Amino acid sequence: MSVKPLTIGELTAGIPVIQGGMGVGVSLSGLAGAVAAKGGIGIISTAQIGFREPDYHQNPHEANLRAVKKEIRRAKELAHGGIVGVNIMVATRHYEEYVRAAIEAGADVIISGAGLPVTLPEIASGVPVPGNGQPVKLAPIVSSLKSANVIFRYWMKKYKYLPDMVVIEGPLAGGHLGFTEEQLRDIPGMHFEEEADRILEAAEAFGKEQGKEIPVVMAGGVYTGEEAGKWISRGLSGVQMATRFVTTEECDAHPAYKQAYIDAKEEDIVLVKSPVGMPGRAIRNTFLQKAGKGAIPHGKCHGCIKTCNPADTPYCITEALIRAVEGDVENGLLFCGSNACRSERMETVGTILDEVADALK
Ligand SMILES: Cc1cc2nc3c(=O)[nH]c(=O)nc-3n(C[C@H](O)[C@H](O)[C@H](O)COP(=O)(O)O)c2cc1C
Repeated sequence: MSVKPLTIGELTAGIPVIQGGMGVGVSLSGLAGAVAAKGGIGIISTAQIGFREPDYHQNPHEANLRAVKKEIRRAKELAHGGIVGVNIMVATRHYEEYVRAAIEAGADVIISGAGLPVTLPEIASGVPVPGNGQPVKLAPIVSSLKSANVIFRYWMKKYKYLPDMVVIEGPLAGGHLGFTEEQLRDIPGMHFEEEADRILEAAEAFGKEQGKEIPVVMAGGVYTGEEAGKWISRGLSGVQMATRFVTTEECDAHPAYKQAYIDAKEEDIVLVKSPVGMPGRAIRNTFLQKAGKGAIPHGKCHGCIKTCNPADTPYCITEALIRAVEGDVENGLLFCGSNACRSERMETVGTILDEVADALK
């Protein structure tokens, strides 16, 4: 038996695995290019992506837009024809400009969450695609049937457009979570599988009306091929995995970041309140202890998130994430999924994708 590929319009990934976007700097061209080259879909996070540019502190906005293009082009080179996309958070300041820059650089897919990407089709329409490329594929991230329906209805009414793919992000995911703290206190009680079934049904119903196939993929808590298979046997078209890819040779984070995952035990993985205004999941360290005691002073604002007010933020999330990805794992914010404690050793992208593909045969 062979693995059923993930098809998004005319794009086909031989292995139905999307590597989830991880900011800041955890999934750049190195990881995304490797995943795409091996038959999955590689996703670059655009969150403060220019942090390694020499002029980042003077002019973060320009540095970020330049780096979006650089990273996409480099990932596409590494991918040898594989599928490369970006993750752009709706909460990003100048969101529209990141969407345009990604399309101009040739991103195949835009996955967008941390807020509902209600105007994404309008922003993307009319942006020239390089070469003879196909129009970019648009994929909202949703965490409930309610938000999925808002997107389906609004996009249809305003733009006569349905998503090219839907990413369902559940409560076990890493980074920011689309749930309340109260909901996250009883994850088994959420019965999220049933919510995923309902989102899938809605995508099928809207798709059928318009004669469009909308692949739906599951993100959050998928670590092995067997776990991917469980979602696929429920009718989903694939999975998005992020945490598993952190402990790979190809991941763009500092080796100390990867080691922090390998060292983390279940009790080290905690929920945090992020300045973005959503809960997040991270590895307990000195930084979180300090943040629990009061505001942490920060430097000049980089203008990253629409909802952050630098005057009263408990800490600067950009500074904290950059410190972590550059290897200062005690003083940085180490975002992770609930499965980070399952990381035991360094792997390669190829071995993970082979394992998943084998399990799906
Ligand atoms: C370190 C880290 C950073 C993340 N950053 C982002 C981000 O910038 N934007 C986003 O939409 N999702 C982000 N995520 C969520 C992932 O893209 C993905 O959907 C989720 O983590 C999948 O669950 P898993 O980690 O259990 O596989 C992040 C996840 C991790 C682990």
